[in-house]
Amino acid sequence: MKYGFFDDENREYVITTPRTPLPWINYLGCEDFFVLLSNTAGGYAFYRDARLRRLTRYRYNNSPLDSEGFRIYIRDGASVWNPGWQPVQAEPDSYRCRHGLGYSVIEAEKDGIGVRQELIVPKGGNCLLMRVGLTNRCDVQKQLKLFPYIEFCLWDAMEDGSNFQRNLSCGEVEVDGAAIYHKTEYRERRNHYAVFWANRMPDGFDTSRDAFLGVYGGPARPEAVFGSGCTGSIAHGWQPVAAQEFSVCLEPGERSSFIFGLGYIENPTDEKWEAPGVINKSRAKAMMARYSDDAAFDAAMKELGDHWDGLLSGFRLSSGDAKLDRMAGIWNQYQCMVTFNMSRSASYYESGMGRGMGFRDSCQDLLGFVHMIPERARERILDIAATQFEDGSAYHQYQPLTKKGNMDIGSGFNDDPLWLIAGTDAYLRETGDFSILNEMVDFDNDPTKAQPLMEHLRRSFRFTLTHLGPHGLPLIGRADWNDCLNLNCFSETPGESFQTTGPSEGPVAESVFIGGMFVKYGRAYADICRHIARTEGSDAYGREADEALKAVSDMETAVLTAGWDGSWFRRAYDAFGHVVGGSGCEEGKIFIEPQGMCVMAGIGRKTGEAAAALKSVKEHLDTPYGVVLLQPAYTRYHAELGEITSYPPGYKENAGIFCHNNPWITCAEASLGHGGRAFEVYRRITPAYIEDISDIHRTEPYCYSQMIAGKDAAGFGEAKNSWLTGTAAWSFVSISQAILGIRPELDGLTIDPCIPSSLKSYTVTRRFRGADYRITVDNPDGAETGIREAWVEEKKTELSGNAGPCLTGRGLLLAPAAPGSVVEVKVILGV
Ligand code: BGC
Ligand code: NOJ
Repeated sequence: MKYGFFDDENREYVITTPRTPLPWINYLGCEDFFVLLSNTAGGYAFYRDARLRRLTRYRYNNSPLDSEGFRIYIRDGASVWNPGWQPVQAEPDSYRCRHGLGYSVIEAEKDGIGVRQELIVPKGGNCLLMRVGLTNRCDVQKQLKLFPYIEFCLWDAMEDGSNFQRNLSCGEVEVDGAAIYHKTEYRERRNHYAVFWANRMPDGFDTSRDAFLGVYGGPARPEAVFGSGCTGSIAHGWQPVAAQEFSVCLEPGERSSFIFGLGYIENPTDEKWEAPGVINKSRAKAMMARYSDDAAFDAAMKELGDHWDGLLSGFRLSSGDAKLDRMAGIWNQYQCMVTFNMSRSASYYESGMGRGMGFRDSCQDLLGFVHMIPERARERILDIAATQFEDGSAYHQYQPLTKKGNMDIGSGFNDDPLWLIAGTDAYLRETGDFSILNEMVDFDNDPTKAQPLMEHLRRSFRFTLTHLGPHGLPLIGRADWNDCLNLNCFSETPGESFQTTGPSEGPVAESVFIGGMFVKYGRAYADICRHIARTEGSDAYGREADEALKAVSDMETAVLTAGWDGSWFRRAYDAFGHVVGGSGCEEGKIFIEPQGMCVMAGIGRKTGEAAAALKSVKEHLDTPYGVVLLQPAYTRYHAELGEITSYPPGYKENAGIFCHNNPWITCAEASLGHGGRAFEVYRRITPAYIEDISDIHRTEPYCYSQMIAGKDAAGFGEAKNSWLTGTAAWSFVSISQAILGIRPELDGLTIDPCIPSSLKSYTVTRRFRGADYRITVDNPDGAETGIREAWVEEKKTELSGNAGPCLTGRGLLLAPAAPGSVVEVKVILGV
């Protein structure tokens, strides 16, 4: 069942009922000010950091779901309703929510009154703008009341939700004309306040929640709206809110437009006050003046549209398959941008309080957005690298506001260092900007310890080499990519963190997965060294490359011996030296991660283990909704394995369809030339292809979710944790690079498709290092891979053959063209 449809022309998903299976959200904001917004106008706003600078309140785990947001109440005689349906839940006569790229529009009509609520975070403005258009479609005059309403958060979301004995006495506001200023804690150490404003004078306002909603009223039945209106209350402590009241008289056919804003303002310390106790409002007034009318609002919309035109023009696809085109060309890239902005901090499943930016997460996210915003990718790499420790290990997370590592989840996740190579490698391939490697970057955010970025990569690489276990495989530490495989934790105490309990350096437990990563990204590191050796004529880098490749080759041997189980790659060795993920195990005999990573790394490609491993994946882990993480699911808690066995069978890391590593299988299959299978794995988790089962899947059909319940779960096929997942970046890599085969390399752009035989032709427009490539792939004979002929600018061109970056044997390597040029490329697949 569907709850809406894709409007590809406008790049929107149009939701046709407010009763979606779960709130279906959008992200507004692309710089510092962000809003999470659901299809019923639920959600919240924050400035840069969802924990430390939360502007409005949001209660996760509430019932009904999604009670707080950017609410508009319409009072029409005795009837009260919201265009977004929530929170009053009065049935509108019609309803649409259009989630677009960085904006959302809710349109509803009831009893002849049409309301259009448009929300956008303008580029270059630290604010949410909300335009509300009212139209009288009746043939009589209408006297209406309009009430916008938001509830402020007292900045630190964690404190806000827990330290009530203090909070309930701290709240302060000022009201000045059509603006309500939220200035809690501004009297002391804060230099920022929030402002909610309207572009015309209201007839009333409230800033005390008790006054507006009533102590026992609640957002579904605000006393001011259902009763005798706003009271002009000023909040002193308790819960500050911004509510306003407008009387509107509309003649038949008449339309009226209001613009509301919610802004974040920072003042320099010596400019905080305008008079004792009165905040300096000059910056707020400038913001309000800037967005005071429809023309300004329209211009902000236009600017945002142009911005997205520019971003998406870096990769466009036309394949004749509308689902594929809209995912690869629009929504997957959009989600990559959201993960760039949020990492794993704030979604409808991530509270924005617990997790800052993940080291490994943000490194992987780079793979998905580097082609859209290379300059910001550069900055991100330098920020992440600056949190690294001198021995190459890493804080697992850092705070976006301070850009400093935090110890919430600690350190000692032994895959982390290698992801820095992965992210930097992706940047170098995309941009060719080797100057980044010379940038001086702190260790542990300490400038006295700064070293060139290249030294950070070297220490990342060395970290694995200096942390090997009894089988020559990498020690796992607290966990590897699978945060829940905690082989050194042994927790028996409820509530204890699986990630920070136990020693971070168990001397025995090893990860085959990190072994695969080391081969893949160790090669990438060697390629980078080799490139520098060549361009700078440096012997030292040549030697470093040779040494790295030697270490990679030793690791390959270790993986193919101790890491090989006979029909698939093992997952790990536990702290007692027992195999994890082998046929001899009672539960958890086979895991997805090492199959994907080791095959992507090329391990066993020539000797057959790679093909055997993928065959085992198909045999043991495949389901119609995606590939599950492991089988058989763990049915009881194993202290020696950790959090993975804490989940009920079929959920999350315990045999859920953990979408993140499905694209690894796609890439792995493509590397063996299996185009049909690669695409099958791709499409099973790709939201547009499962839109028709939205009632089962439940999360948004326009973005990937972290997890879909596996076959062992009661809710098989039901997704959770939408939006903030490495699935976004890896899916984009899998479709754009592995399947469609447009792959940036250090030396140029490779064309090397591996597609289902049913795909007969497609065109990709790809910006690469400033030049635009128009690449047409024709597949007249229904091949899966291998280029038969190639033309560049209508000139027949030699293929790169088996050498170099081409995985399938017959690809085309294009040297970078001059920036600004347009290059026409045509290839024909077949033998
Ligand atoms: C989740 C993981 C996550 C970890 C660390 C666990 O509860 O299952 O997916 O990576 O927490 O935040
Ligand atoms: C989500 C975390 O953000 C990510 O870092 C981790 O790799 C996966 N869960 C798997 O545990």
